[in-house]
Amino acid sequence: MDKLSITGGRRLEGEVTVSGAKNAALPILCASLLSSDTIALSNVPALNDIGTTLRLLGQMGVRAERGNDGTVSLSAAQVSSLEAPYELVKTMRASILVLGPLVARFGEARVSLPGGCAIGQRPVDQHIKGLAALGADIRIEHGFVIAKAKRLKGASIRTDMVTVTGTENLMMAAVLAEGQTVLENAAREPEISDLAELLIKMGARIQGHGTDRIVIDGVDTLHGASHRVVADRIEAGTFLCAVGATGGEIMLRHAAPDTMGALLDKLQEAGLQIECGTDWIRCAMRQRPKAVGIRTREYPGFPTDMQAQLMALNCIADGTAVMVENIFENRFMHVQELGRMGARIDIDGHTAVVTGIDSLSGATVMATDLRASASLVIAGLAAKGDTTVERIYHLDRGYERMEQKLCAIGADIRRVRAQEAA
Ligand code: EPU
Repeated sequence: MDKLSITGGRRLEGEVTVSGAKNAALPILCASLLSSDTIALSNVPALNDIGTTLRLLGQMGVRAERGNDGTVSLSAAQVSSLEAPYELVKTMRASILVLGPLVARFGEARVSLPGGCAIGQRPVDQHIKGLAALGADIRIEHGFVIAKAKRLKGASIRTDMVTVTGTENLMMAAVLAEGQTVLENAAREPEISDLAELLIKMGARIQGHGTDRIVIDGVDTLHGASHRVVADRIEAGTFLCAVGATGGEIMLRHAAPDTMGALLDKLQEAGLQIECGTDWIRCAMRQRPKAVGIRTREYPGFPTDMQAQLMALNCIADGTAVMVENIFENRFMHVQELGRMGARIDIDGHTAVVTGIDSLSGATVMATDLRASASLVIAGLAAKGDTTVERIYHLDRGYERMEQKLCAIGADIRRVRAQEAA
């Protein structure tokens, strides 16, 4: 398995181009199942999760052409299989996003249930409950969700909690249903609006995306469309935390600062100087960070996907920060590893109390999930001495060329390939 080898203590200076958002691209790729026409996408990040989704769609008969400039063109004119097998779903939970589109267009789907996950139980009961409300006949058999419906029928659906992929799955199902669907308690994440914008270009009738009440009037068919995937607010935020921890000044290009309000506020509170245009963010850090408390919330609250990275910053901040994780029940897996670098963090249930110290010390640490890995990289960049981050396959799932982008702004970071390490 590849590792990252980091020598800490370098200031970060220069420009970074932000990639397209993983969590927008994944549902958008699955939306190609909704039409027999071609969907032409740009700004699709080169990530392992994107590769997995293209393999999944490919097994179903979707033809995909991927350029090396972030373009992907998809045609679901000849879908031959309506199944998402366990082998792919177990490596990527977002595979569940084919469920809604398959039932909506083909009247049938057989999707393996995702199993447990490092950051929490993450059930998909709300996806299933919503599809049943849309008239699908659903059975769970041999670890698969089997859903059938001649044609889905519009319904009013209120999910028990706010769910991002649940909202996306149900929105994709409802666009081809007969009649009107109202999704109450819908997630408001920018990635949902991005998906809705693609669906509207394909001929869907959707209103209210970006709010907690989405109204969808079903249509008979959808047509082809082109779409540029929105910028990755979590990747952008990760680079901002890195500069916050090391000091320096960077310019993020192709960013979407209007999707990053809660995070930018907190980083300013931590002492970062931030200036934004429509698609850029300039950020400078010239002091020791100040400790900042957060409570993770659904959008537009502080994102759970940034909790671990901000924690790395708090580890070396002036003061004590109380950080509460409200979305997932087990998303403090980075805490023990940060502790190995000298961090002082106490955990009580969903709350972490981080007491800032002058500096972290480099160590060998192990990544446990995607954002935990990013947190350890930030800690390594700021630490004294050398850090090795092991198991970075998690990082490759969700950050495009992270070490190259960091090298280009002055970090001393290098990928040690598995063969090289051996
Ligand atoms: N939940 C249920 N039942 C459901 C659905 C969700 O109990 O049917 C619970 C979950 O267990 C969790 C909460 O509701 O406690 C919220 O989960 P949500 O469904 O919103 O999460 P998700 O859709 O599975 C997406 C992102 C995650 C991100 C979360 C929260 C994608 C592909 N994934 O997951 O991204 O953390 O929303 O914002 O969009 C990441 O990129 O590192 C990542 C984990």
